[in-house]
Amino acid sequence: MCGIVGYVGKDEALPKLTKGLKTLEYRGYDSAGVAVLQNKEIYVVKDKGRIANLEELLKHEHIKGNIGIAHTRWATHGVPSKENAHPHMDDEKRFAVVHNGIIENYLELKDFLIDKGYTFKSQTDTEVIPLLLNYYYKKEKDVLKALGKTLQDLKGSYAILVISPLLGKTILAAKKNSPLVIGKNESGIFAASDIPALISYTNEFYFLEDGDVALLNDTITFYNDEFKPIKKKSKKIDWDMEATNKNGYEDYMLKEIMEQPEALKNTLNGIIGKKIEFLNFSLDKDYLDSITNIHIVACGTAMHAGLSGKYAIEKLCRIPVTVSVASEFRYQDPIINAKTLCIFISQSGETADTIAALKLARDKGAVTLAITNVFESSITREAKYTIYTHAGPEIAVASTKAYTSQVGILVALTLYIKEIRDGHSKESDKLKEELINLPKLMDVVLADKDIYKDYAKRMYKVRDLFYIGRGNDYNIAMEGSLKLKEISYIHSEAYPAGELKHGPIALIEDGTFVFGIATDAKVEEKTLSNLEEVKARGANIVLVADKEEAKDMDIIKIPKVNPILAPILAVIPLQFIAYYIAKEKGLDVDMPRNLAKSVTVE
Ligand code: G6P
Repeated sequence: MCGIVGYVGKDEALPKLTKGLKTLEYRGYDSAGVAVLQNKEIYVVKDKGRIANLEELLKHEHIKGNIGIAHTRWATHGVPSKENAHPHMDDEKRFAVVHNGIIENYLELKDFLIDKGYTFKSQTDTEVIPLLLNYYYKKEKDVLKALGKTLQDLKGSYAILVISPLLGKTILAAKKNSPLVIGKNESGIFAASDIPALISYTNEFYFLEDGDVALLNDTITFYNDEFKPIKKKSKKIDWDMEATNKNGYEDYMLKEIMEQPEALKNTLNGIIGKKIEFLNFSLDKDYLDSITNIHIVACGTAMHAGLSGKYAIEKLCRIPVTVSVASEFRYQDPIINAKTLCIFISQSGETADTIAALKLARDKGAVTLAITNVFESSITREAKYTIYTHAGPEIAVASTKAYTSQVGILVALTLYIKEIRDGHSKESDKLKEELINLPKLMDVVLADKDIYKDYAKRMYKVRDLFYIGRGNDYNIAMEGSLKLKEISYIHSEAYPAGELKHGPIALIEDGTFVFGIATDAKVEEKTLSNLEEVKARGANIVLVADKEEAKDMDIIKIPKVNPILAPILAVIPLQFIAYYIAKEKGLDVDMPRNLAKSVTVE
């Protein structure tokens, strides 16, 4: 949610900034801008629209300079417009600022500054920062002191980069509750919202903690929240840059759908043997026998994976599991304590609500476990334990391979808990075998993509689409429906199959498409009856199931597996159909409107 990047060094800053911005574009693409220091003056170019648009504008400018900052925006305060685009500056052009986060008390600060004679050009919360810097600089005559005073005034979350003619060749960086990494190579020093933005320049990174400030020039100087100099050790990150390319695919989403078997294989690699073992994570029998419940917290697709985790844990371990949307969890006064194991799932590891929920659970004494796909992401520094999914970088906004890997790791975790508490059983050995075999079955489902394309051709003009199922199939229905909404902008609803007749069935008309998901023999007949009910009202049914045929219904057949594992297979046709519908409609599947991949504001 908003991406920031900065560079100071020997080379021209602009190409480095725009390249960095492009890898951050998944965080937001409402507007983009850069500020470069040239001959002791700040030059800003910014506009509404995507980075390609900014690049066009930059072709007509002749900005040169070895120090600059840049921003790609997901609008929170103020519409996407040139005025609201970052960087923001004070009138005297002393400070240019890019910001990711939300300044929650900006209205109060704005009133204070207006009272002091300042005027605002934008509707953003960010603009208070350069103006406060200006205000405090005039009082203190010292940039660092002005920064300290400004940061003290800010409530909320921020990762900021600041350049100023007063500082010369120096970038100021500060962070609280929003991610910021710093990297360095022989050409210079970089700062950005995430590692992928910088990985083509360096694999050596420093991670700022909340409250930290850094001065970037020929070297990096770190300060803590009391402005005392501190030392930090860099970490080497070995990432495969190839993994961030499209590799010949038309879109990242298609590539990531196709990568799912490999992603799951990599995620489970080394975990499942005779025993289940995780790297740097273990729980003992005494602890697992002592817990009264498990609470899973996440947002969006990760939350849907969590629902399937609940299904698996409750079925196999008989431990009560609650799943909460992270933004609700914090405000529902959750009943958790030292006897609750709290699991937080986040592909990016940066989702603000999920991280805030984790901190709350930790404060209440619960053991916290993060499941994330991004190495060294913020969540890993907050949780007691971390388990990584190894799905590789997921770039498309709509999550696909992260979801199937999350469900896979949750099943592995379930088996781990079960075996520690109850010892080995034939049932758990069989499930382990099935889990390991899943990537091959995923290949089988992926091979039918032309069939899914045909369905999309039949459906892409509809206004509404429905997805129904029972038990874990309902969880799959929710994920299928979310994929469709996210990228095709078609309204869709997921409903527990038996609940449809309590209201939503009124929406079914002649020709309405309804997906039925039926992968669990125990409830299959019931779901089929519910599908008959909608068929009787004119609906076209598409059944995703592990059977060959059903009367008067189209069937997408998937291989038969334990219902605990079914989401990993059954979601694939639904991902594809959403993808092909969006393609039929000529939409940008990787960067759908209004969305961002990493939601770093609450
Ligand atoms: C955003 C993304 C979703 C994602 C959700 C949670 O809404 O668009 O694809 O599922 O955030 O993200 P996380 O990184 O925490 O899994």
